[in-house]
Amino acid sequence: MLETVSPAARTSLPLPELYSRVERHIPAIEWPVLADDIAAILKLKREKNAVILAHNYQTPDIFHTVGDIVGDSLALAREAARTDASVIVLAGVHFMAETAKLLNPEKTVLIPDLRAGCSLAESITAADVRLLREAHPGVPIVTYVNTSAAVKAESDICCTSGNAKKIVEGLGVPKVIMIPDEYLARNIAAQTHVEIIAWKGHCEVHERFTPEDIREMRANYPGVTVLAHPECPPEVVAECDYTGSTAGMADYVGQKRPHRVVLLTECSMSDNVALQYPDLEFVRPCNLCPHMKRITLKNIRHALETMSHEVTVDPEIADRARLSVERMLAIG
Ligand code: 13P
Ligand code: SF4
Repeated sequence: MLETVSPAARTSLPLPELYSRVERHIPAIEWPVLADDIAAILKLKREKNAVILAHNYQTPDIFHTVGDIVGDSLALAREAARTDASVIVLAGVHFMAETAKLLNPEKTVLIPDLRAGCSLAESITAADVRLLREAHPGVPIVTYVNTSAAVKAESDICCTSGNAKKIVEGLGVPKVIMIPDEYLARNIAAQTHVEIIAWKGHCEVHERFTPEDIREMRANYPGVTVLAHPECPPEVVAECDYTGSTAGMADYVGQKRPHRVVLLTECSMSDNVALQYPDLEFVRPCNLCPHMKRITLKNIRHALETMSHEVTVDPEIADRARLSVERMLAIG
């Protein structure tokens, strides 16, 4: 399992110890430049009582050195609800920062680059959700956290890839609407008796994987274990050995220790997990998320220096959106 280090523990680690975590990924010649930003970020975190929540898709220099809480969207939401820091820096994408803000209306939540969006969040609006509700009266709306606060505000409950099946089944109804990821909805529908009405949103990173990719990998890398995120098309998930959230995939690798493995997901995920398991072979076909890659050590430092960019949510929308997130956290 990817570890979570308390902010106090991480900010007191000496730089050479931090380098030892990433030395298999970052050449020694590049370290001094990064170390300057890392030292500045650690100092700023102490001064401002700030915590950095870093998603599993952040690059190893961020993930393994300055991230205090690391994990999938569910873990980041849970930890955002628990933190006693005054400032939260979200090293991830905008919907994750908005979720942290919903759960911490009194705290300052910063995102280092406001352009860090998500194709799924872009695929649906609050007006679309209202129309869906009209078209299917009485059918609960389960909304993936990869959406805007305005969309969450129109929903009954949120889910993540880590708890989607539990949330859908936990409602105890024969039919739900699940938005906006068509593939996640179809992948969950294949695991449950609950009927699922889907939307046509897709993740621009995971929709690019194909069953042919898997067949090619199995031919070129005999014995490879294939893990896929449930945002991949169902035809891809049907041919993989395991599907789960980013944390689910990391846990699978930690527990089963497949000698040769490929993670069909964002590239940095493999980099981060591979650093923890040097004895395993990671096959690397992966796709980059351009939104996640907007976050860098430099702009994290800048965010803390200038206290920008602050993420805010209209209070009326926030009150309704928070209910959807809190209902999810209460179930699991
Ligand atoms: P996880 O919740 O599995 O970390 O997924 C978030 C995401 O954006 C995947 O593309
Ligand atoms: Fe959104 Fe896909 Fe990027 Fe995840 S990987 S943040 S779902 S675009």
